Amino acid sequence: MKKRVIVTGGAGYIGSHTVIELVNAGCTPIVMDNFSNSTKEVLVGLHGILGFEPEVEEVDCADRSALLAAFERIAEDGSIDGIIHFAAFKAVGESTQLPLKYYANNIASTVNILEAAQQHGTTEVVFSSSCTVYGQPEAIPVDESAPMPSAESPYGYTKQACERIITDFAASGYPLKAALLRYFNPIGAHSSSLIGELPLNHPNNLVPYLTQAVAMLRDPLTVFGDDYPTPDGTCIRDYIHVMDLAKAHVAALDWLGKQSTACEAFNLGTGEGNSVLEVIQAFERATGVTVPHRIGPRRAGDVTAIFADASKARRELGWSCNFSLEEALRDAWNWQQALGA
Ligand code: WQD
Repeated sequence: MKKRVIVTGGAGYIGSHTVIELVNAGCTPIVMDNFSNSTKEVLVGLHGILGFEPEVEEVDCADRSALLAAFERIAEDGSIDGIIHFAAFKAVGESTQLPLKYYANNIASTVNILEAAQQHGTTEVVFSSSCTVYGQPEAIPVDESAPMPSAESPYGYTKQACERIITDFAASGYPLKAALLRYFNPIGAHSSSLIGELPLNHPNNLVPYLTQAVAMLRDPLTVFGDDYPTPDGTCIRDYIHVMDLAKAHVAALDWLGKQSTACEAFNLGTGEGNSVLEVIQAFERATGVTVPHRIGPRRAGDVTAIFADASKARRELGWSCNFSLEEALRDAWNWQQALGA
């Protein structure tokens, strides 16, 4: 698949891993990032894995004129065959404290990207969405037909809103073909340990906090509640290896190339649910290292349980997960150790 693909947020966690898989598939990724939530060290890691540094445009996707100018520069060197749009703020808790920051950035960047796509005749767009759009689903595993309740955070609402913006644009007459990829819980890192999840401050997510606690960089892990209606009382999530997630983006782009029209959502998860305590036990099995942890109070906003029915992605994209939870946790730990080295 020889496509030139703009990867907004390409220096981020999922974006950088997707850049690797795009190159592996024969594509030419162009990283577009303002490095507001990533560091240029990621480019060094990408160079180490790829043997070259991908083309980079340092730009804020929410700055309309700067973004359109960046697209002009990129278009001078050839067609823009596709866009994978990751660039967004994604901290659920922060979004409730700074809603305007999230609305201004996440929604404006998506509108700007679509305008730029239209200006350059780019019709294939893959959008980074989230299982957060489902809130607490009625039935689990959750499939793409599940209703979207009123979002429980401004972050979640920006994902719902951006899906709607893309859907409306695809129905407006412009021949946009879009894949809306709803991630469950991405974890792990590239096997080289040259790139991985780089929380630039206190990690909100379970696995980066867990590995930092094991590395004695943080207090022991607090398990946010063990009184949920689940087998062991802790919340259940669908933890998917970031490399499996990256491969799904390539499969989605390939799929779009074969469609005449498309605007489809796909759940990207393993289809398995694991509780917090099960993650801790899997980490200890995978690494032989004990996780210092204690049980604490519930975290506001957490849903009890959610995991994916990923059969649509398997059926339509020909994609499925290769890595197990233990392999993902092993790779997360290897990455944490490489950071500390
Ligand atoms: C997982 C489980 C916590 C930290 C979020 C976003 C979602 C997506 C993925 C962007 C929960 C528990 C966590 C800790 C804990 N991000 N936990 N102690 O909340 O499922 O999803 O990240 O798209 O949109 O909502 O992920 O990793 O924060 O939490 O017990 O120190 O781990 O209660 O049950 P979450 P998470």
